Amino acid sequence: MTTSTRRYHITTFGCQMNKADSERMAGILENMGFEWSEDPNQAELILYNTCTIRDNAEQKVYSYLGRQAKRKQEEPGLTLVVAGCVAQQAGEALRRRVPELDLVMGPQHANRLDSLLEQVFEGNQVVATEPIHIMEDITKPRRDSRVTAWVNVIYGCNERCTYCVVPNVRGVEQSRRAEAIRAEMTEIGRSGYKEVTLLGQNIDAYGRDLPGVTAEGRHKHTFTDLLYFVHDVPGIDRIRFATSHPRYFTERLIKACAELPKVCEHFHIPFQSGDNDILKAMARGYTHEKYRQIIDRIRAIMPDAAITADAIVGFPGETEAQFENTLKLVDEIGFDQLNTAAYSPRPGTPAALWENQVSEEVKGDRLQRLNHLVARKAVERSQRYLGRIEEVLVEDKNPKNDGQVMGRTRSNRLTFCEGDLEELKGQLVRVKITEVRAFSLTGDRGL
Ligand code: SAH
Ligand code: SF4
Ligand code: F3S
Repeated sequence: MTTSTRRYHITTFGCQMNKADSERMAGILENMGFEWSEDPNQAELILYNTCTIRDNAEQKVYSYLGRQAKRKQEEPGLTLVVAGCVAQQAGEALRRRVPELDLVMGPQHANRLDSLLEQVFEGNQVVATEPIHIMEDITKPRRDSRVTAWVNVIYGCNERCTYCVVPNVRGVEQSRRAEAIRAEMTEIGRSGYKEVTLLGQNIDAYGRDLPGVTAEGRHKHTFTDLLYFVHDVPGIDRIRFATSHPRYFTERLIKACAELPKVCEHFHIPFQSGDNDILKAMARGYTHEKYRQIIDRIRAIMPDAAITADAIVGFPGETEAQFENTLKLVDEIGFDQLNTAAYSPRPGTPAALWENQVSEEVKGDRLQRLNHLVARKAVERSQRYLGRIEEVLVEDKNPKNDGQVMGRTRSNRLTFCEGDLEELKGQLVRVKITEVRAFSLTGDRGL
């Protein structure tokens, strides 16, 4: 090991979970004396925190990795780490494919980065992908934002959706203790952050693995109980959460969101398909009627709540008529935002082996048609903001206009307004909305 300061760079692919893991791993590296380098080519340690949800996400990792592996041939002192979901999925095979790698570590091992690196610095090539119990991280994450922070509440997923790699790569559900979550949020509030997003692949599953049952036979630590337990943490003005699974979504949760002032009026509830036979083949465990009932209940109790979701087109066997059921659901519900994707066969998942795969052309065409509809519906949903005064938490500059700042409404709509970032960063400002677009708003401050 050299005595001069060692620099590190992390590139993160994938979802909010991975972003949160990267922030924790950055915290661990800084605790070990590493310093952040914006330029990966100046860094002595490079960590790729990877995603394998779809094939294109995985291929991106290999192309980045190839470049640094080449660099390592000239600079043997470079430490190369692959963490996250590709690491878990490919494990030993990844080490063989890229022999320059020093460390391959699955997502459950994020909090052990320091001890794994110690083994690397002793001269070992390390692969850490065995399932483990996730320990609390005792270092402080290096958070990307100074305004908003992620907090994991449950790791892993016990569902078995037939298209999805997540259970294979993230392991079984492991809930953090409510006290640990509250302690982390308290620290976040004390450090000046204003917003927390509670994270889980299936957040409604929170607490199922924790001991304790109420007199009514309910788990003592449901996600709704957790919201009541953490909602008053000082300094935090807003609480968000994702992702909700329709199978476990409860009316009690809607009521908690309506009742707790800091909990924002936004639900992210992926439906994946609007067709019951496809939902069954996906093993999602609900029907489109059940999904619609959930949305109806939300709109009855919180009429203005934003609703966003994820959907997949071209799942194996999906006919034109079945795809049209997805269009119908999107048209009738009117989402504020929808993340859409063409089905991508993933290794180790049942649906990848089915013979009734849909052609790339058809998938591409359906994706485009769905995206058009999504944008049209989002424009409609945006109209309700026109002329209204919205509370916006200022996070950053508008990257396209220096004189403007940007933030989000409570409903998570990206909003721009004139202002000076220095003065407004981390502030809740009142913005009168003057312009609406599909996925963003513009307004005037202080009216
Ligand atoms: N736990 C969440 C989603 C996690 S993955 C849930 O159950 O809803 C994020 C999104 O990626 C999914 O909602 C799904 O829409 C998409 N996705 C997952 N696997 C996919 C695959 N094989 N092909 C295309 N999209 C996929
Ligand atoms: Fe994947 Fe289904 Fe788990 Fe979501 S609930 S992470 S889609 S297996
Ligand atoms: Fe990707 Fe892993 Fe998240 S596969 S979407 S980074 S859980």
